[in-house]
Amino acid sequence: MSNAILTVKDLVIEYPRAGKPPFRAVKGVSFEVKPNEFFGIVGESGCGKSTLAKALCGLLPITSGEAAFHALPAHAVQMVFQDATGSLNPRMTIGQTLTEVLAVYDLCPKAQRSEMVATLLEEVGLPAEVALAYPRELSGGQCQRISIARALAMNPRVIIADEPVSALDVSVQARVLNLLAQLRKRRNLTILLISHDLAVVRTVCDRLIVMNAGEIVEHGDAKAVFARPQHPYTQHLLAAVPDIAEAY
Ligand SMILES: Nc1ncnc2c1ncn2[C@@H]1O[C@H](COP(=O)(O)OP(=O)(O)OP(=O)(O)O)[C@@H](O)[C@H]1O
Ligand SMILES: [Mg+2]
Repeated sequence: MSNAILTVKDLVIEYPRAGKPPFRAVKGVSFEVKPNEFFGIVGESGCGKSTLAKALCGLLPITSGEAAFHALPAHAVQMVFQDATGSLNPRMTIGQTLTEVLAVYDLCPKAQRSEMVATLLEEVGLPAEVALAYPRELSGGQCQRISIARALAMNPRVIIADEPVSALDVSVQARVLNLLAQLRKRRNLTILLISHDLAVVRTVCDRLIVMNAGEIVEHGDAKAVFARPQHPYTQHLLAAVPDIAEAY
């Protein structure tokens, strides 16, 4: 594959430990993500998903191997986290938070900032009045939409979403996932969706990797993986997924 937007090759990530050898959280993973793909990274708690995500956007040093986004300008890779409410400044209104991003990164002329805030809110399905609210006045789903809007303000090419819906009720999860799917199309984004929940990944992803204890145990087209999981670990994960298709 030569048209990849992200190439990860033999990637190893270790955490140093005092008086002990380092802990190897990611043990030599390789995969590629293509432009405009909705790519899933799945696995149980502690398998190394967040470690991988942080390394991909430069928040953690790489021990060895390679993780490279191809031909992307600065700020083109944005992250969205699980704890949306906690990631917003409680003392600032939503409008102030979004305006600050626009101002700090000089993303639009000053006179257009409030209009841009309204546009961003509309893009994530929220009314313009939300600009006047504080994070505590909003639901978890609304806060997650705000953190998506904050990422969009940066004009990203790639969004890495680490458990973006795991703190939300199932019905709200579906709506936030639908929003990500719409944004992918509308903005021609590449999305990496990280989840411990196969049901979440199943609804939106084109391709996925399944991780177990820092290694990739399954890799492929999402439909094929769900129809015919090859690895016992994937079969085990799938068996644990309740049939919640009707919720979506
Ligand atoms: N800062 C750290 N120092 C040492 N070990 C860490 C650190 N962060 C994570 N680990 C360990 O690395 C492994 C992978 O952690 P990571 O957070 O990447 O897992 P995860 O798949 O994101 O899990 P979850 O689904 O719970 O978010 C775990 O065993 C964890 O204990
Ligand atoms: Mg994690």
